[in-house]
Amino acid sequence: MRFAVMASGFGSNLQAIINARRRGSLSAELVLVFSDKPDANALVRARRAGIPVAHLSPREYASRHAYDEGCVDLLKKQHIDLVVLAGYMRILSPVFIRAFAGKIINIHPALLPAFKGAHAIKDAYDYGVKVTGVTVHLVDEEVDHGPVIRQAAVRIHPEDTLDSLTRRVHRLEHRIYPEVIEALVRGRIVIDGRRAIVKG
Ligand code: GRF
Repeated sequence: MRFAVMASGFGSNLQAIINARRRGSLSAELVLVFSDKPDANALVRARRAGIPVAHLSPREYASRHAYDEGCVDLLKKQHIDLVVLAGYMRILSPVFIRAFAGKIINIHPALLPAFKGAHAIKDAYDYGVKVTGVTVHLVDEEVDHGPVIRQAAVRIHPEDTLDSLTRRVHRLEHRIYPEVIEALVRGRIVIDGRRAIVKG
């Protein structure tokens, strides 16, 4: 199983994946880290770990569709079985999603379908919910919508600040994302409609 990570930013989830591979708890091969941002810290982390990196600049493409076609070509050349989104900040167009149907996963820092969007941790904190968490889901053509593979909860305590909550949510992300990837790689996750069944 060969997978690619797509990331736009800091890359802490990518780092968790790299660390899991080093520990031997993730058996799939991370063959490429792709970014839409040339200066993404995720690319720095990948290079440091000796993982091939690729970047395409959206400005050089006429449309989102054309850009995503470029991304598909690039990934298909690498024979990627699984696309792992880790803080990839562009919405994928149907051409990309269809090219890798059922083979794209994303991690979202809230319990979907609550708090979709780019500011989920802050939105949950500001809303005053007592429990939030992390969702790993398959990506479909609607944003933050595909079948849920795994969720884990984080309690929000009265003394929490946005910073302390953010740290706990990220710590949880870093634990569960590599676990989900490994479960997928080992064929332990079966998708049946909107339901993902984790075996064993
Ligand atoms: C994570 O919180 C992830 O859930 C969201 O974007 C953030 C990426 O963080 N999709 P990082 O770049 O992995 O540090």
